[in-house]
Amino acid sequence: KKILTVIGARPQFIKAAPVSKVFEKSKKINEIIVHTGQHYDAAMSDIFFQELKIKQPLYNLEVGSASHGEQTGKMLNGIEKILIKEKPDFLLVYGDTNSTLAGALAASKLNIPIIHIEAGLRSFNRNMPEEVNRIVTDHLSEYLFTPTEDAIKNLNREGLGNRKIVNVGDVMYDACNEFIQEKYIIDDILKKYSIKEKNYILCTLHRAENTDNLEIFENIIRNLFNISKHKKIIFPMHPRTRKLIENKNILNLSNILFINPVGYIEMLHLMRNANLIITDSGGMQKEGYFLGTQAYVLRSETEWLELIKIGWNRLVLPSESEFYKKILDFKIEAFNREENFYGDGNAAKKICEFILSQ
Ligand code: UD1
Ligand code: UDP
Repeated sequence: KKILTVIGARPQFIKAAPVSKVFEKSKKINEIIVHTGQHYDAAMSDIFFQELKIKQPLYNLEVGSASHGEQTGKMLNGIEKILIKEKPDFLLVYGDTNSTLAGALAASKLNIPIIHIEAGLRSFNRNMPEEVNRIVTDHLSEYLFTPTEDAIKNLNREGLGNRKIVNVGDVMYDACNEFIQEKYIIDDILKKYSIKEKNYILCTLHRAENTDNLEIFENIIRNLFNISKHKKIIFPMHPRTRKLIENKNILNLSNILFINPVGYIEMLHLMRNANLIITDSGGMQKEGYFLGTQAYVLRSETEWLELIKIGWNRLVLPSESEFYKKILDFKIEAFNREENFYGDGNAAKKICEFILSQ
């Protein structure tokens, strides 16, 4: 079977790593990878292909950054041409970015069946660009592979129960389990940043809701500054956030170490060894759970609700003026992590088997 996979943003490279490997190993799937070019800095793209040994994309559309409409439109145009040329049996997309939406839209117009991995998630906040992308992609897809049971309920509620829906678990769990095994000298990382194990906070920030509104962004930085008086913060900056931080001239806050985005393996170790994670990232909310580190999630709601329900992660409103107090009061508790919300770490294998059975 021939599958055309469209990816373009950092988390999609990580999600694709285990899946592409299983496809290749099966010898029954011929996968063609299209990189939209949504993320293009070496630290946002190339590093993942090298480090995670992902098959090189056959096509790169190099769309780069632009407004949502322009970016998605350019992708649509490029993907359509490739689909017509390659005539795949399926188009595969991951998650909820503009690259996901463009891939799904292009295939739907050509009647090519769509496989959506990480289907069925909902934050129920349509102001998030990702929420719109998810809903549209799910509704266009024939094969919906969900990471959780709750995601199936969401799909059924939207009348999609007649599609091919399988809860395979989270492909990010596969990736985390695989790449945490890679040799990495944690002592080198600790030395590089002058930090000690379980004695720092790891922070990332990039969501439109937190970076497009200057008041909110400044509130977050003010709170982080107050936290950093008590505990060192390591802050790998998404380029979108770097631009703001550079504009505000705050790169030199003494106890916040602003660094370039790091590779996935380093990130896994930074997460595992942190006291706490503060983030608005979707992926890191769960990776912290996989690796044993709790997180404060800088969002008003999340699509990974199960971790909020059990108290592993906590939501904090980015506009709350003194949220730093809550975070400083935080005490690490002994936690039972046995509940396996995200499957058994074999999501990629299950996806491959299901596709081959069709
Ligand atoms: C996108 C996704 C978001 C996902 C995130 C993962 C959408 C709507 N959003 O957000 O769901 O969580 O990726 O990281 O698809 N930039 C660079 N270099 C790069 C990439 C981006 O400088 O390699 C800068 C540009 O100024 C760009 C900005 O970052 O305008 C935002 O990039 P974009 O891809 O539009 O959105 P993300 O915030 O990365
Ligand atoms: N990540 C990384 N290096 C970084 C920041 C994030 O490897 O400097 C990884 C992170 O561990 C997770 C993925 O990138 O697997 C999440 O990406 P991001 O937060 O950009 O997107 P989201 O998950 O919010 O869509």
